[in-house]
Amino acid sequence: MTTAVCPGSFDPLTLGHVDVVRRARSMFDEVVVGVARNSSKASLLPVEERVALARAAFADVDGVRVEAVDGLLADFVRTVGAVAVVKGLRGGADFDAELPMALMNRHLSGVETVFVVGDQALAHIASSLVKDVARYGGPIDDLVPAGVAEAVRAALRGGDAG
Ligand code: PNS
Repeated sequence: MTTAVCPGSFDPLTLGHVDVVRRARSMFDEVVVGVARNSSKASLLPVEERVALARAAFADVDGVRVEAVDGLLADFVRTVGAVAVVKGLRGGADFDAELPMALMNRHLSGVETVFVVGDQALAHIASSLVKDVARYGGPIDDLVPAGVAEAVRAALRGGDAG
């Protein structure tokens, strides 16, 4: 059985992430969605909420589970016995950001990173843009899985600028 990790901040989870996880699941027997607790970025949603929203989004997808990543991704990959990290690419800027992380993770643990090209119809969706649109009162419901839009709006109402 082959396992892959789809890591990210998922702040918030978007339809683009769901697409990439489903594509990863088509290549590996099991996919662990790794929600980074200590991302270098300040998060809008607490990690427990990001995990809960992802669990709800993938509840009906066989072979996908969701866990928080507490430390280094390289250690998490070893712990869950994964053979690969899977990341989605929307364009060249994503690759430029991902390449050093892929090289560092291989340096740290020997794990390979597999890049998948997501659905072009979702290529405009980024968590940072979703938060920006929501912050100014724009509609985000068709950019994220069910439940996520309301969680983002509630967090923004709570005054955390994210
Ligand atoms: O969705 P993001 O924010 O682009 O995901 C980045 C993430 C969470 C994959 C990356 O920050 C990460 O792996 N964090 C865990 C800590 C770690 O291992 N850092 C070194 C990565 S080379």
